[in-house]
Amino acid sequence: MKLFVDSGSVKDIEALASIGILDGVTTNPSLLAKEGGDYRQILKRICDIVKGPVSGEVVATDYAGMVREGRDIAAIDEHMVVKVPLTRDGVTACKTLSGEGIRVNVTLIFSAPQAWLAAKAGASYVSPFVGRLDDIGNSGMQVVREIVDLFDNADYSTEVLVASVRNPTHVIEAARLGAHVVTVPAPVIDSLFKHPLTDIGLEKFLKDWEKAQGAKV
Ligand code: E4P
Repeated sequence: MKLFVDSGSVKDIEALASIGILDGVTTNPSLLAKEGGDYRQILKRICDIVKGPVSGEVVATDYAGMVREGRDIAAIDEHMVVKVPLTRDGVTACKTLSGEGIRVNVTLIFSAPQAWLAAKAGASYVSPFVGRLDDIGNSGMQVVREIVDLFDNADYSTEVLVASVRNPTHVIEAARLGAHVVTVPAPVIDSLFKHPLTDIGLEKFLKDWEKAQGAKV
């Protein structure tokens, strides 16, 4: 499963890319609005750092506006993926953009039927939002399971990109279910590294080592 970071922060993306395990980035209007500045420049900078798929989202809600913005986003860099929402206009725009060879990530997906529509329209990625489903008492992972099964059975090449991730359990469940990609906020990626027994174990190894060095003198 590929790991994307869900962030518009160049600083966070640089730090994660330097580890060498980052495959791509997703952004959305809320994340980029937090950063301020020129969003096209930020997206270009992110593409230069990651050199993998970087999703930038349209803000138009009508078909013509989405196609216009989508072409503009795709022109920023060869790594750009255009994100459109799962609406009737969004699916229509996905069909047009993907027909032009532009990769499309259909976002704000909350059900398997929605994912199926996006796949039929030639989406490269569908983004089911697991955290927001859990927030309203539904099971985000159940929806991911249904989408993965559906794509396997129908042999779609669309990748399942698990989004709205809140914790390490979401990440591991996504991998176990066979999702192709998980996009994770930087603080949740940080938490993947942590276990108290790792810290305790490392401290003990180093203490034992120092003790042995002292004993030699
Ligand atoms: C996906 O691409 C979205 O940017 C994102 O995962 C939304 O997550 P949220 O529900 O934490 O805002």
